[in-house]
Amino acid sequence: MTMAIYVIGDLHLSLGGNKPMDIFGEVWENHTEKLILGFKDVCENDLTVLAGDISWGISLDEALPDFKFIDGLPGKKLIIKGNHDYWWNTVKKIKQFFAVNHINTIDILHNNAFIHDGAAICGTRGWFLENCDGGQNLKVYNREVMRLKRSLDAAKSSVADLIYCFLHYPPVYKGYECVEITDMLSQYNVKACYFGHLHSKSHGLAVQGTYKSVEYRLVSADYLGFKPLKVQ
Ligand SMILES: [Fe+2]
Ligand SMILES: [Fe+2]
Repeated sequence: MTMAIYVIGDLHLSLGGNKPMDIFGEVWENHTEKLILGFKDVCENDLTVLAGDISWGISLDEALPDFKFIDGLPGKKLIIKGNHDYWWNTVKKIKQFFAVNHINTIDILHNNAFIHDGAAICGTRGWFLENCDGGQNLKVYNREVMRLKRSLDAAKSSVADLIYCFLHYPPVYKGYECVEITDMLSQYNVKACYFGHLHSKSHGLAVQGTYKSVEYRLVSADYLGFKPLKVQ
């Protein structure tokens, strides 16, 4: 029985609304069907991290059909927040909402870490350096850095012997870098860091491969052809 870890970002579901994604290009046509196909190798005991931009819904209620869709996909899922997840609420409220609506396979990666088959799963939304221009943005950035630290510290004090990190925003991106984040990932000996957010032409802006001893990979759904990437 496998206990694999997978990742995919940016599902951009809108089953409860009317935000057809095919307006963002042909690749997004029938993307829910493509996702069902893409998940066909994922087994019941596997875990898939959904790296933000999960639903276009602006409330938990509006996002419910999307959560039901995700719940229907095989295996466990861990979600992190993306910049388009306006439905996001406190962890307590999201969990209550899932419980009331019998959504049993989705958990939340937020200020915490999960252990799956000996590996620690850490992560947060992250931020762009270009947004770190002081004031309010700097506050949000620092908060994200603290969240990541909390998540990594939870991993460090666990039994896990390796750490994977999942972010929505790329911490390093052509010409931009959130040094506090990339340095922290190196310092905690993170094996690999997966990020989404970049779509279509922006795929080319991703920094991928080994950087400061951490492996970086872009995992937006349109980049992966709507098939989750196997982490281990
Ligand atoms: Fe996105
Ligand atoms: Fe995004």
